[in-house]
Amino acid sequence: MAYAKTRLMYVSLVVLGALCLYFSMYGLAPFKDEPFVFKKERGTFLQLPDINCRQEPPFLVLLVTSSHEQMFARTVIRNTWGKEKNVSGKRIKTFFLLGATASKDLSKVVAQESQRHRDIIQKDFTDAYFNLTLKTMMGIEWVHRFCPQAAFVMKTDSDMFVNIDYLTELLLKKNRTTRFFTGFLKLNEFPIRDKHNKWFVSKYEYPWERYPPFCSGTGYVFSSDVASQVYHVSDSVPFIKLEDVFVGLCLEKLKIGLEELHSEQTFFPNGLAFSTCRFKKIVACHFVKPRNMLSYWQALENSLEEECPAV
Ligand SMILES: *[C@@H]1O[C@H](CO)[C@@H](O)[C@H](O)[C@H]1NC(C)=O
Ligand SMILES: *[C@@H]1O[C@H](CO)[C@@H](O)[C@H](O)[C@H]1NC(C)=O
Ligand SMILES: *[C@@H]1O[C@H](CO)[C@@H](O)[C@H](O)[C@H]1NC(C)=O
Repeated sequence: MAYAKTRLMYVSLVVLGALCLYFSMYGLAPFKDEPFVFKKERGTFLQLPDINCRQEPPFLVLLVTSSHEQMFARTVIRNTWGKEKNVSGKRIKTFFLLGATASKDLSKVVAQESQRHRDIIQKDFTDAYFNLTLKTMMGIEWVHRFCPQAAFVMKTDSDMFVNIDYLTELLLKKNRTTRFFTGFLKLNEFPIRDKHNKWFVSKYEYPWERYPPFCSGTGYVFSSDVASQVYHVSDSVPFIKLEDVFVGLCLEKLKIGLEELHSEQTFFPNGLAFSTCRFKKIVACHFVKPRNMLSYWQALENSLEEECPAV
């Protein structure tokens, strides 16, 4: 009898011990990896563009998120709205943001492209869709470290049409120099808790009920001082893989409010049917395929003198 009792106790202890070990491992694992904090000093630059911002400060720097495979989209942007140009005597420069890939061939091609065009900013994090926050923060770090002399920065994507002339005109009219942030304002957004949605965010990733005010990641514009300020607070706000929400969290912490650039809508994150007169008065339009980019851009360039009916 005594022997059976001892054995039962022994087995219970072993089971209890195993359970403790299991829960401590799985319960503590997330803290071991610290996934919730952005490490701002992490990673090294693999490619840097050829620009001396101190000598020739640009008025506007465009940072375009891109991936290795999107070579054609980059070529089209370089030949259309991303062309280096001066608008009202203001210098505009476009750069592409890339991460790193395991493919040796693609890495080589991108390194060659970078040598040739000198317009690629690349760091050694894995280039993946849900690493967009790292990509955006690389661009912000680059402005902070290498180009704080720029007056304004726009972060946008490679499937966007950007009307540089109108953006410059509106920025000059707005006459703001610091703590300015604009785009398509999203003031009342909630995390999507449906597991099948592309934008699903678990309560574990983001436990709060609503997002801070932010601007659609398809295209937002800010005075360059915001880059340094966002960079400085980026490791003290919760990390989230949605880059636009992450920047929103930084802005909330900095108490930088979002502002409209114009009384009319100028940012179109959901796309807009093309017409020359319509596109003369917009800043950014989403879902523009590379093959349409060139024809839109040429139509706009050819219609500079053309009168449009007043809206
Ligand atoms: C823009 O102006 C600067 C000097 O003001 C000049 O060096 C540069 O070549 C111009 N760029 C273009 C594309 O005209
Ligand atoms: C993002 O990049 C980091 C650093 O290279 C990598 O460890 C991580 O797996 C990447 N995330 C995704 C979703 O691929
Ligand atoms: C721009 O703002 C500054 C003050 O911030 C003011 O002195 C200047 O007159 C303004 N310029 C225009 C064109 O409104």
